[in-house]
Amino acid sequence: MIPLPRLIRHLSGSFEVTPGSVVSGPAAPVDAVRLALPGLDLRPGDSGDIDVRLDPALGPEAYRLVTGSRGVEITAGGRAGAFYAAQTLHQLLPDSSYRAPAGPGHEGGWSVPGVRVEDEPRFAWRGLHLDVARHFFPKREVLRLVDLMAAHKLNRLHLHLVDDQGWRVESRAYPLLHEVASHRPRTASHQRGEPESYDGVPHGGHYSLADLAEIAAYARAREVVVVPEIDVPGHASAILAAYPSLGATGERYEVLDRWGISPAILSPLPPTVEFLTAIFDELAGALGATPFFHIGGDEVVLDHWAASPEIDAYRRSLGLDSMPALQAWFLRRLADALAERGSRAVVWDEAFVSGELRPDTVVMPWRGMGVGRRAAAAGHDVVATPVFPLYFDYAESASPDEPVAIGDEITVADVAAFVPAPADWTDEERSRVLGAQAQLWTERIPDARVLDYRAWPRACALAEVVWGGEAGPDFPDRLRAHLGRLDALGVEYRPLDGPRPWQRRRPHRASATRVADVMERLDRMTHDAESTRPSV
Ligand code: ACM
Repeated sequence: MIPLPRLIRHLSGSFEVTPGSVVSGPAAPVDAVRLALPGLDLRPGDSGDIDVRLDPALGPEAYRLVTGSRGVEITAGGRAGAFYAAQTLHQLLPDSSYRAPAGPGHEGGWSVPGVRVEDEPRFAWRGLHLDVARHFFPKREVLRLVDLMAAHKLNRLHLHLVDDQGWRVESRAYPLLHEVASHRPRTASHQRGEPESYDGVPHGGHYSLADLAEIAAYARAREVVVVPEIDVPGHASAILAAYPSLGATGERYEVLDRWGISPAILSPLPPTVEFLTAIFDELAGALGATPFFHIGGDEVVLDHWAASPEIDAYRRSLGLDSMPALQAWFLRRLADALAERGSRAVVWDEAFVSGELRPDTVVMPWRGMGVGRRAAAAGHDVVATPVFPLYFDYAESASPDEPVAIGDEITVADVAAFVPAPADWTDEERSRVLGAQAQLWTERIPDARVLDYRAWPRACALAEVVWGGEAGPDFPDRLRAHLGRLDALGVEYRPLDGPRPWQRRRPHRASATRVADVMERLDRMTHDAESTRPSV
């Protein structure tokens, strides 16, 4: 099983579940069990083959699962626990149970072996991030990713909805965002060190607010919380292609057609805060309950703030002694606005280094666990997101057989060895770690097939670590067996011994960016608020 439950005991006896088996219990957990086992076409009823009970003494995500000759008994702390019990039950069935209903192998029933499972996750935040700005992924791919996350008991989908290369959601208040900022006429096709070249192919797309509402509801039903990100004040080229007056210079930018860091930056003055709060309201209105809202704060080039007499005067009027302090102040304003709307702000680690944040702001240390520890020591909750080993846009090997990637190498074993709350942190610091999250930046992930290849099976290792706290015994063997489930689900994962011939695509150039070198450079930067310009 992946992720490995906390306790499994094999019992004698077995039970047959068949399409149309009855599941009984309170409505919400029954609904969760049926959704987790779509291939079984379970029917709700009064006394079932699968009986679900709620026990408030258990945590909301905790469950007990007992199977045997008398049937299946699920005792869960809440709807989420029932959902995860059913995912565990699913993994007791053959791989063919992961195929679509009425597919081959569904005619008869499946024998469920007798087991007793007691289980509860170690971490509350078990996340995947998807950058839909560099390349847009249509709604159907996002829904599919939610299904795959749910099958692995992952529960936070962080959607990076804007970057220099595109804005990806409808705005009724600011329609030029989706009309102008959601597409670019071409995309850079050269790799680092090569002469500039462009593909000449328009790229774009955005979610309607109705799409976003649908994604959030679909995710919620599968116990996945969507965490939207509007990355500010940097990474602003697309916004400033639509509304240049929101920028520090008033200059109109183009939606960026190449990668790297742009100097485009929003102004910190009140009209920008007004704009962003209107966007928060629109997104939260579509998403429904939005417990977390990511506001970016990474890779901000502050030169245009420093060069602006108006912004400098504003900084002085606030009694702030530096532009990084003004950035922290700006993010604090936004976090206050989010708090009024019931959301906690989440930021990348530069925001923490730049100055004082709202104390309940969650920090994502992408530049290494060193800065994560400092954020935790300062009292911030932390979600571990370090480049190594959680940037899944890095290749799994340095071989030119790999499709071209931003750098190399991060293996399944590297992910499985990751410890989100390191043993050498103090108990207080460790208690601040909400969990961990892998990042799928998409400069070099042009479509859903490459996305599958980059995400899986590394995300299986992530799921194992965030559920159990560390990889359990026999993880490599369990992963090999688990691949049959991914096959049945139609996931184009990276085989453990390397890509299939058609998965090679354009060859990766080894050692262009070694992840160890990147981590060393990033770690140095975390000590210097002014210097947040990695060239990754
Ligand atoms: C990041 O990689 N700029 C968060």
